[in-house]
Amino acid sequence: MRIPLLIGNWKMNKGPSETAELVEGLLAALEGISGVDVGIAPPFVSLHAAKGALVRPPMVLLGAQNCHWAESGAFTGEISPSMLAECGCSFAILGHSERRQFFGENDSGVSKRAHALLKAGMVPVVCVGETLDEREAGAHLEVVEKQLTASLEGIEAGSLGRVVIAYEPVWAIGTGKTASPEQAQQMHEHIRKILIKLGGAAVADGIRILYGGSVTPDNAAILLKQPDIDGALVGGASLDAQKFASIVRFSV
Ligand code: PGA
Repeated sequence: MRIPLLIGNWKMNKGPSETAELVEGLLAALEGISGVDVGIAPPFVSLHAAKGALVRPPMVLLGAQNCHWAESGAFTGEISPSMLAECGCSFAILGHSERRQFFGENDSGVSKRAHALLKAGMVPVVCVGETLDEREAGAHLEVVEKQLTASLEGIEAGSLGRVVIAYEPVWAIGTGKTASPEQAQQMHEHIRKILIKLGGAAVADGIRILYGGSVTPDNAAILLKQPDIDGALVGGASLDAQKFASIVRFSV
């Protein structure tokens, strides 16, 4: 039985003072909800404020939106997994399509980052997803298979079980267009089959596969009901405590 996981990807929104306010609103809105794991990924500079505000139940996991693969060194502008752990992070989002599109990140970089996070005892949330052109060309299943296999390269079955996958069709992110429940379920099932190939059935069965792309309280219920959708990676709607909490409620 997979426990649902809902992560708020705040992207480049909310500095430290607004972070404290949003976290407080979120804790109040989440009160009384159980049986689900909830996480937030604020900008790096707001992690400290978030940690300071996450002082009372319900328990909310803290994560980052990216990380470097090295432990330390001459990598101007980068942050290592151990630094994130020190800030209270237990996970980091990797290979988000905005990182791939605007900052040149690729599967091999995602794989190096995933290895580094696992080594630091943290959870990589590995994002994959096709563009509209790729879907229209009927190449979406193949594209995601390639991304996933390359992004998880070299991760042994023992560690694979700790990874979270997020399927985010690029055409659905921030556009208001969501994949239909059938489209999403088809891809999640496909991803589960790839995970079986990589780590065996028992490991694949325990891995949480999140859906992301314009998830709102209006479409969350039907998406989260699909058998292979184990939660959501929520962008825009996670900046509103009430909306995010309603989405969380639909997962239990
Ligand atoms: P969105 O973003 O919910 O605003 O579409 C999702 C994401 O990019 O993680």
